[in-house]
Amino acid sequence: MRIVQICSEAVPFAKTGGLADVTGALSKALVELGHDVTLILPNYSRFLAKNNVESRPIGESFDIPLGDRRVGISLRQTQMPGSDVRVVLVDQPEFFDRDGIYQEPHSKADYADNAARFTAFPRAALEAVARLDLRPEIIQAHDWQTGLVPALLEAQYRKWVPAMERTAAIMTLHNMAFQGAYPAETMPLTGLGYEYFNWKQMEFWKQVNLLKTGIVFADLINTVSPTYAREIQTPEFGHGLDGVLRDRAADLTGILNGIDSHEWNPSLDSHLPAKYDIDSLDVGKVECKRALQQRVGLPQRADVPLFGLVSRMSWQKGFDLIGACADRLLERDVQVVILGNGQPEYEELCRHLAAKYPQKARAVIGYDESLAHQIEAGSDMFLMPSKFEPCGLNQMYSMAYGTLPIVRATGGLADSVVGATAETLANGTATGFSFHDHHPEQFWQQLDWSLRLFADKPAWHRVQRAGMSRDWSWSRSAREYVELYERALGRRSN
Ligand code: ADP
Ligand code: GLC
Repeated sequence: MRIVQICSEAVPFAKTGGLADVTGALSKALVELGHDVTLILPNYSRFLAKNNVESRPIGESFDIPLGDRRVGISLRQTQMPGSDVRVVLVDQPEFFDRDGIYQEPHSKADYADNAARFTAFPRAALEAVARLDLRPEIIQAHDWQTGLVPALLEAQYRKWVPAMERTAAIMTLHNMAFQGAYPAETMPLTGLGYEYFNWKQMEFWKQVNLLKTGIVFADLINTVSPTYAREIQTPEFGHGLDGVLRDRAADLTGILNGIDSHEWNPSLDSHLPAKYDIDSLDVGKVECKRALQQRVGLPQRADVPLFGLVSRMSWQKGFDLIGACADRLLERDVQVVILGNGQPEYEELCRHLAAKYPQKARAVIGYDESLAHQIEAGSDMFLMPSKFEPCGLNQMYSMAYGTLPIVRATGGLADSVVGATAETLANGTATGFSFHDHHPEQFWQQLDWSLRLFADKPAWHRVQRAGMSRDWSWSRSAREYVELYERALGRRSN
């Protein structure tokens, strides 16, 4: 199958979160299954330079009319390291030669011209598909930044380009909290006429809503876990678009993300001071814990339960619960290591905890790929009490690394972590700890329970091993995507 992925970030080129892990790893996994994959993303030249990615011009350039002006686009090409994924970069220095992807580093406000950037990008990407004669059977768009893709395909490219007449569009939803909603005056940037600005298509509460646009025009829609696919059809999780999603319920499914088992594998991980697998936990993981304590400057003790946390610091991730339970937890004999950045109040909360408990807690405010790996490996428990979580990757990394995640049973956390209970411990399925309601007492009960189980070493090891033996690889999820593509193609050929 010829598949084009259009997205605003992908590992190893540019990343702000799990979206990039997924677009990069899914593309590679599809190639491994024998498909022809092209990944199209903006040419964030500063990020590519930082990541030592070289690219070359393809020799295609064109203009797109954007409101009352025209912007020049040229195309570049590069290769996905270690894979045959073809990577096309949409070069537009005014929009993409910047220090940030959606906002300046350390700024809390998005770039003021994001509407222009992420209407220009999908338009340029489809033009690239046509000009490079990629003839895809499937085009998959990810999140609001590419929400225009299914609409442009339907309104323009299926009519304009014979080789795209039967191309099916998949819209993948990674997070309903971000929708790309802009004032009505944004319409001229989209390349589509005001006839599309109505409540059944692109309009939502008098604004242009790019995510809604993608949902309405895609052949099939998926999200990144089966539970989240159900949740987003309810007002609590739909962020206003639950009705739109209920209208398309028959076309909406959930596919749990995988993890890149080369990148996130304790037996291969070059960020770790010692590599380990399921049979060498006692040596390797113990050494990773010691090295983590040393790196962050906590007492080097093997016996103390160490809680790790790596996250964007956003209200989505349940930092209010961390704040509510932190003192109770830190009064015990424990250690806590936190890595993340984001909303200032949560950064402040974590700094405050580290200052209050200097022998027990550390907070590293920032983004640090190698420390993220070391925390996954060196911790005993991993904290992820998210308010909502479309899929979540860190809980899967944790289980693969023999670290027991403590999660709220929502979205992909509910679909991947089996909470320890008398029953799941007895039948050997438990892989972590899980609670239902977004409530401090429920979170606390699981923290307390994890400490009790930690003291029972044989039981703890069984849970570690159960998590490490599960198949978290992308090949499982990529096969489900192929089935989804086949369904979409079936529709188009009828
Ligand atoms: P989300 O995409 O909602 O942020 P995910 O769990 O899907 O959540 O993915 C988060 C990804 O970003 C993981 O790969 C995680 O390790 C990484 N990450 C998040 N914050 C940091 C940070 N401060 N430093 C390094 N990696 C981080
Ligand atoms: C989003 C979600 C996260 C998910 C990721 C990749 O960032 O917040 O839960 O894992 O996308 O799909």
